[in-house]
Amino acid sequence: MPTQQSKPSTIVIFGASGDLTSRKLLPALFNLYLKNRLPKQFRIIGYTRRDWNDDIFRQRMQASIEAHMNFDIVSDAWDRFVLNLHHIHGGLSTAQDYQDLQAGLSALEDGPSNRLYYLAVPPRFFTDIVSGLAQANMIDEKQGWRRVVIEKPFGNDLQSAIALNQALHAHLDESQIYRIDHYLGKETVQNVLVFRFANTIFEPVWNRNYIDHVQITVAEEVGVEHRAAFYDNIGVIKDMFQNHLLQLLTLVAMEPPATFQADALRNEKIKVLNAIRHPSKNALARYLVQGQYRGYRDEEKVAPDSETPTYAAIRFDILNWRWQGVPFFLRSGKKLATKTTEVIIHFKRPPHIMFPLPKGYEISPNILALCIQPDEGIHLRFDAKVPDTAAEMRPVDMEFHYADSFGACAIPEAYERLLLDALIGDAALFTRSDEIEMAWKLIDPFINASKGKKRPALEIYEPGSWGPAAADALLGKEGRSWLRGCAELNEKPPARQKDC
Ligand code: BG6
Repeated sequence: MPTQQSKPSTIVIFGASGDLTSRKLLPALFNLYLKNRLPKQFRIIGYTRRDWNDDIFRQRMQASIEAHMNFDIVSDAWDRFVLNLHHIHGGLSTAQDYQDLQAGLSALEDGPSNRLYYLAVPPRFFTDIVSGLAQANMIDEKQGWRRVVIEKPFGNDLQSAIALNQALHAHLDESQIYRIDHYLGKETVQNVLVFRFANTIFEPVWNRNYIDHVQITVAEEVGVEHRAAFYDNIGVIKDMFQNHLLQLLTLVAMEPPATFQADALRNEKIKVLNAIRHPSKNALARYLVQGQYRGYRDEEKVAPDSETPTYAAIRFDILNWRWQGVPFFLRSGKKLATKTTEVIIHFKRPPHIMFPLPKGYEISPNILALCIQPDEGIHLRFDAKVPDTAAEMRPVDMEFHYADSFGACAIPEAYERLLLDALIGDAALFTRSDEIEMAWKLIDPFINASKGKKRPALEIYEPGSWGPAAADALLGKEGRSWLRGCAELNEKPPARQKDC
């Protein structure tokens, strides 16, 4: 694990009065501080329009971190940490704003310093901020590296994503841009690569010869909550598929990169996205199911006749030697039965059964479940002989739980990993511009199909269910069915992070 860097670093958070800063960024930075992983000299600057000073900023951050995290953070370490927190007041629109910010930063930095600009602001401000920084010479790397972190959404469709990339590239080199997909910061998502490429026994069976199909589920129990106004304009396909679900798919499907360098990894992910079939316009509706939870239209700030899907299931086919004929079924929705993110590898049945099985009994296929959250772990289901029977069988599980092997509190928040990587310049877990564009190229036709004349019906599903019945039919057509993988396999209560 990399530790402290010698050169001082300044982390400038634009929009630091927002939720992201107090819920995710500052707790992550404080944890990195406790683990001695921040540069020896660092400053965290909250840049906001608020009329705050350092003391108010520090108090506000402390209060909202305590409220969100539900515990008292006051300690000697916190007292030392907050001395590195400063506030600068200013706007985002004029050249003067950036000159003032530069002057404020120089006054705080005694000497050359690296700078991480974290844009915790709505995406419509990204290009203005980057060009403001560039005009004020704040992206110039003579005094140390300059990096910019941005969060999704990266555009709203392919065209706007290309425009955003071009606007960023007008001032920044791609290597200075860190696009966050917080799913890549999750330990268990990174573990997909370790599982596949640091073990010898799985890779030989990781292909069309042994795998029947793959299911990727990101289910949430919560509804749209306070984000309804935003969500109602985008829906689940843009919110979850274009980014998190496709990222999971690429990690499961990619070829082994030669090195763990950012570009080696990202090149392999791009190859997967490139190999995904684009169904013809007429066929799209057959690969897409959409639903909306009952009661969504009554949510505050949702249009009463909203057609926005809160659930979708999509079938993707990867046209290459490894995956030809192995469909990938992806689904995600809000207000579902349980919160779970999981990847299910559904193996083929044995080619020949020599056992005299009871009538009607079928050998169950092997199932490998990669449980991303909340009970992080891996399950392998296989058939075992029931003792004291001739040849009766029952599926049993081999289980690995992170909590059992590494302790219930071993898994850090995704932002901790991502902030540290941005500070040390490791872009492996960040999305490259071509990945973003490729993902939109795949997703745009589904978005159009979800609204077009021949759109699949928007089925209303009950909160607490597993989504619309049509999603079962998507798999059922070929005799497959969704598995309640991790939730069902799990007999132990999940070790939840908030208890840590
Ligand atoms: C975000 C989406 O990117 O991911 C949210 O915008 C969703 O709608 C969230 O709730 C899910 O993240 P996690 O880490 O809770 O699975």
